[in-house]
Amino acid sequence: MEDKIIVALDVSEKERAEKIIEKLSSSVKYFKVGLELYSSEGNNIVKEIKSKGLRVFLDLKLHDIPNTVSNTIRNIAELKPSMVTVHTLGGGQMLEAAVAAARESYPEMKILGVTVLTSLDKKSLFSMGIEISEKDLVSKLAKLAFDSGCDGIVCSAQDLGDIREEYPPPFLVVIPGIRLPEDELADQRKVSHPCLAFEKGADFIVLGRSITNKEQPELAIKRLLEICKSAG
Ligand code: C5P
Repeated sequence: MEDKIIVALDVSEKERAEKIIEKLSSSVKYFKVGLELYSSEGNNIVKEIKSKGLRVFLDLKLHDIPNTVSNTIRNIAELKPSMVTVHTLGGGQMLEAAVAAARESYPEMKILGVTVLTSLDKKSLFSMGIEISEKDLVSKLAKLAFDSGCDGIVCSAQDLGDIREEYPPPFLVVIPGIRLPEDELADQRKVSHPCLAFEKGADFIVLGRSITNKEQPELAIKRLLEICKSAG
């Protein structure tokens, strides 16, 4: 179970990230560096996490033309993260370019396609001109990711539908937007209980504020692990 948890270091300062890591690294092996921390601390924070023997999920959600994304993946490969995210809405050619660059530069690095952000609901998608159901959209984007050679997808448990059956392991499913009943929704719209996410077939869940905002994150993670373990 511990190997299936990714803690999101959504902070701007290295010192705050280090505190979270210090409190959680005995229970968690994967830490997520997203745009907030990467834009303030850059490659050094990734190197630091790796130097502690921990794994990095580099969540940069790359979304650009194929040439730019593939060159970026080559640069990122030097940091040897375990997983990197690209946005499936960048299209099949961009995804293929990302996968090809990863295979050439650091084959162990998994390329994950973000489908629909868990902060987007039907209304927000409609305002962007997307009128199909969220489940259908995620299903189309998951197919695009799979056909383009991506190692997996990131999506909400609520939109997962039959994807797990259609694309069994080793295709990876990573689920963010995790909340316990007492947690605040904040900007998320598509949240799920951690047990539900695992029940639906998540290989990894991403835990952010439901752990890192707690006064004692080390106790919060222990409690969450117990809840998940007792649910089987
Ligand atoms: O604090 P919270 O648990 O809401 O954080 C969720 C994390 O998962 C954030 O770091 C966010 O960037 C990430 N994420 C997401 N929805 C996606 C992909 C990633 O919320 N579709």
